Amino acid sequence: MKILKTIFSNMLKVKNPDALIAEGKKSELKKTLNVFDLIIIGIGAVVGTGIFTIIGSAIQGGPEGIGAGPAIIISMVLAAFSCVFSALCYSEIAAMIPVAGSAYTYTYATMGEFMAWMVGWILMLEYAIGNITVACAWTGYLTQLLKGFKNILPDFILNFPIWLRYDYRSLAVMCDKYGWDVHDKIPFIGNLPVAMNLPAIFIVLILTLILIKGVKESTRFASIMVGVNLFIITSFILVGAFYVKPENWTPFAPNGFEGIFMGAFIIFFAYIGFDAVSTAAEETKNPQRDLPIGILGTLIICTLLYVGVALALTGIVPFGSIDTQAPIAHAMRYIGKDWFAGFISVGALCGLTSVLLIYQLGTTRILYAMSRDGFIPKAFRVVHKKFRTPHILTWFSGLLVIVCSLFMDLNISAELCNFGTFTSFIIICIAVLILRKTDPDRERPFKVPFVPLFPILGIICCGGLMIYSMGSLKTSTTMFPLWLLIGFLIYALYSYGQQRRIEERQRIMQAKADAIKAQKEA
Ligand code: ALA
Repeated sequence: MKILKTIFSNMLKVKNPDALIAEGKKSELKKTLNVFDLIIIGIGAVVGTGIFTIIGSAIQGGPEGIGAGPAIIISMVLAAFSCVFSALCYSEIAAMIPVAGSAYTYTYATMGEFMAWMVGWILMLEYAIGNITVACAWTGYLTQLLKGFKNILPDFILNFPIWLRYDYRSLAVMCDKYGWDVHDKIPFIGNLPVAMNLPAIFIVLILTLILIKGVKESTRFASIMVGVNLFIITSFILVGAFYVKPENWTPFAPNGFEGIFMGAFIIFFAYIGFDAVSTAAEETKNPQRDLPIGILGTLIICTLLYVGVALALTGIVPFGSIDTQAPIAHAMRYIGKDWFAGFISVGALCGLTSVLLIYQLGTTRILYAMSRDGFIPKAFRVVHKKFRTPHILTWFSGLLVIVCSLFMDLNISAELCNFGTFTSFIIICIAVLILRKTDPDRERPFKVPFVPLFPILGIICCGGLMIYSMGSLKTSTTMFPLWLLIGFLIYALYSYGQQRRIEERQRIMQAKADAIKAQKEA
C-alpha cells in the first residue's frame, strides 16, 4: 500500500512554474512581435494540408468515414468553434508561463510527471504522425505539378509507377474501388507487397538533412510563404467564383448531421497549429492584448478563407467527383485551366514544405525537452559537433515518419493526429481550471473569460467530436489507445525509474554541497 502511495505521489510531482519561468528567463528573447507577426506565424503554421488536400476526404468521405458534402462549410465553422476555447486557454497559460515546450511544459506545471510524459508522447501524434499526412499530400501535389509538363518531361517521370506513389493500404482501397487486380498494380516479393510513397520519403529525407545542417526560421521566410499561400488561395476563390454551378450544392448535406460532424472531425486537421502562436508568447510585445487577437484573428481569417475555398470547390466540381489527393488543383483542371492547376500546385508544394519543416522541427524540440527532463535516454539528444543540432533526434523523427508512412495512409495519419491534438487541447483546458484553483494569485497577463464555462465548453466540443468520430473510424480508434499503451509502457519500464535515479543523484549532490558548506562554516 505504501509503495503504491509513493508511486502515485512520484507520478504527480509537478515542476514549479517559478522554476520554469526562471529557466525561460535564462534565454531571454527580444519582445518584438506584434499582432501582425502573430497572425503571420499562425497562418504559416495552420494553412497547409487541411485546405489543400484533406478537404477532399472531408467532403467525399474516406474508406471508413462518410463525408459532409457541400455542407463542409458548416463542418468548418464547427471545427473552428471547437478550437476557440482551447486557443483562449493556450493564451492564458502561454502568457502566464511564457516558456518553450508548449502543452508538454504546461502539463508538467499542473498535472505532474506522468501526465507530462503522456502529453509529450501524444504531441508526437500531432507533430510526427501529422507529418505523414503532410508528406502524402506533398506527393499528390507533385503528381499534379508534373502533369503540367506533359510534353516536356519523359513518360517515366510523368507516369511513374503507382506502387511508388502510394502506401499499400491506399492502393488496396483503390484496387477495391476501381475493380483492379492487386497483382497487376503491385509487385510482390513472396507474399510481401512492395508499395511505398517514394516522393513523401524523399521530401522527408531532404528536410531531415536540412534540419541537421540547421535552419534559421526567419519571419521574412514565413511571411513570403504565407504571402504565396494567401495569394493562391484567394486567387482560387476569385477565379473559381466564375465557374460555380449552384446546382452542385444540392443536395447540400447528403449524409445529414452525421456527415457534417464527421467532416468537422476530419477538417479539424486544417486548424491545427495554434500552439505555434501561443509559444511565441515570450517574444510578444504586449501578450495580454496581442495573443488573443493574434490567435482569434488567425482563426477568423482561416475560417473565412476555408469557407470561401469550400464554396468554390463544391460549386465547381460535383460532390462525387471531387479529388481526394489534390482537390484544389484538380478543380482547376476540371474546368480546363491546366496552367492554373500548375500554379496552385507550386503554391501548395511551398505551403506543405514549410508545414513539414515546422512540424519536423517541432517533433525534435519536444523530444529534446523530454530527453533533457530524463524521460528519454540522454544518448538521443547528442548535439552534432559541427552543426550544433540534435542530429540523432532529427534522424529519429525523420525515420519515424518514413517508416510509419509505409503502412499508414493520409487519412489514418490525419485521424490519429486529430485524436492527439484534441486530447492535448482538452488537457490545456483542464490545466487552466487546475491553475486557477492551485495558483490563483499568480499574475495572469491574459485571462480566459467566463471561467469555468469556456474551458468546459472546450472540453465538451473537443471531446464530443472525438468520441463521435470513434464510432466509425475503426482503424485509428484502435491505433490511438495502442499508442497510449506504448507510451504508458515506456514510462513504466524506463522513464519512471530514470526520474527516480535523477532525483537520487540530485539528492546526493545537494547533500555533498551542504556538507562542504557546513565544513566551511565550521
Ligand atoms: N493545419 C496544418 C495543415 O493543414 C497541420 O497542414
